Amino acid sequence: MKPSSKTKNLILYGNFIDTPKLGKLRIRTETILLIINGIIEEIEDDVCDIDTRITDIKSRYNNIFFEIIDISKKHSNGSVQFFFPGFIDTHCHAPQYPNIGIFGNTTLLNWLEKYTFPLEKELSDDLIKAESVYKKVIEKTLQNGTTTISYYATINRSSTVLLAKLCLELGQRAFVGKVCMDMNAPGYYSESHEQCIQENIKVISDIRSLDSKAGGNKMVEPILTPRFAPMVSKKTMYELGKISKYQCVPIQTHLSESFNEIEMVKSIFPESRDYTSVYYDNNLLNERTVLAHCIHLSEDEAKMISDSKAGVSHCPVSNSSITSGECRVRWLLDKGIKVSLGTDMSGGYSPSILKTARQGLLVSRHIAMKTSDEVGDKDKLSTNEVLFLATVGGAEVMNLEKTVGKFNVGMSFDAQLIEVGCGTNVDVFDWQIPSNSDAKEVITEKWQDLVDKWVFLGDDRETTKVWVNGNQVK
Ligand code: GUN
Ligand code: FE
Repeated sequence: MKPSSKTKNLILYGNFIDTPKLGKLRIRTETILLIINGIIEEIEDDVCDIDTRITDIKSRYNNIFFEIIDISKKHSNGSVQFFFPGFIDTHCHAPQYPNIGIFGNTTLLNWLEKYTFPLEKELSDDLIKAESVYKKVIEKTLQNGTTTISYYATINRSSTVLLAKLCLELGQRAFVGKVCMDMNAPGYYSESHEQCIQENIKVISDIRSLDSKAGGNKMVEPILTPRFAPMVSKKTMYELGKISKYQCVPIQTHLSESFNEIEMVKSIFPESRDYTSVYYDNNLLNERTVLAHCIHLSEDEAKMISDSKAGVSHCPVSNSSITSGECRVRWLLDKGIKVSLGTDMSGGYSPSILKTARQGLLVSRHIAMKTSDEVGDKDKLSTNEVLFLATVGGAEVMNLEKTVGKFNVGMSFDAQLIEVGCGTNVDVFDWQIPSNSDAKEVITEKWQDLVDKWVFLGDDRETTKVWVNGNQVK
């Protein structure tokens, strides 16, 4: 590919860790990644003479400018660094950000009424406030290493397009959706079927034209966002399904989050067999659909999801906070369902996917404690598995698995630089990689311990730099 002066061309040297397979870390040390125009062009393992390699690369690329980042050395403070793929948050409500941490003892339906709808209404009408909130959410999630995110905006078109514009400006890869709610919604925050469809069509074209003006790299894409079945009419669901198919737009919604919500769905849609069938019967379940929560599903429902190839956004921080329940991730994975992680701010209180991964691991252990010993162990998710959900799983759910989530040639360089042991919560003692190359298992174990410490004790301070499509955004 011909390098341009606009995007960064990078030569990176050192340790790279990712999780191309569920449960396994891929650890590459003394490795060079060559990034041209934000894309991983070459990967070379076990490089001993970095200076010669750099000279060679430069001469092959006619001495264009490369930023060179060498993290191979241990720092004088004893810290260790590695590159890790950027996190993917598949479920986040941008306008709810001012409410994070505020949920009291509510559960879903009274939480929506008390905290959520009034705030979303405010940010729907007040674009100045919306701009300052959206900027904060984008900055905070980027600081925490989230390079791709799927946002719910508000019911309002301008407020939705504004969010997309800010994602482009601040350099976050994003899906942005106008919330649809044309039935049973509070009077002060609702729309008609016609409004919903017309505004969605405009949102799709506005976001696509913003993206093409910015280079047409699909850094920001529209996503259809019927809020959840109890508040969307059947004809709107059906129409959105058609738009999804003919305009190739993904869909995001909530499914089976709380018991009261499931009862509501039963009474509103008696003709459908269950909650998942409401989406299936009304044209919303396909391989581009992202289903948040999926906690209280039956076997039949899980089978429908698996057959449709829709993906799940597991939101364990939210599920524990507003006491929705425990999503059986292993049960979903065993059925071949794509699973990812979502912060679900502000049902979830944290902007961090690292924290969400940690909580996902703990929730899996709560499930394990309630099942028999034998089966119980199976339900536990490991650190490597939750990191897979946070990266590759997210890419699969957003149908971006050929673009982001791991370090392979041809993929975009969406990454974070992790520094462990830099005077934060993660203390590292005498961390030394044995130089003997026979000691592969020992080396792997050493790295595994370090990654485990990061997952359990880390926060945004370990994420020292972040890149999206080769552009440094932190
Ligand atoms: N169900 C319908 N709307 C919402 C929302 O904003 N957050 C969560 N967590 N669940 C929902
Ligand atoms: Fe949500």
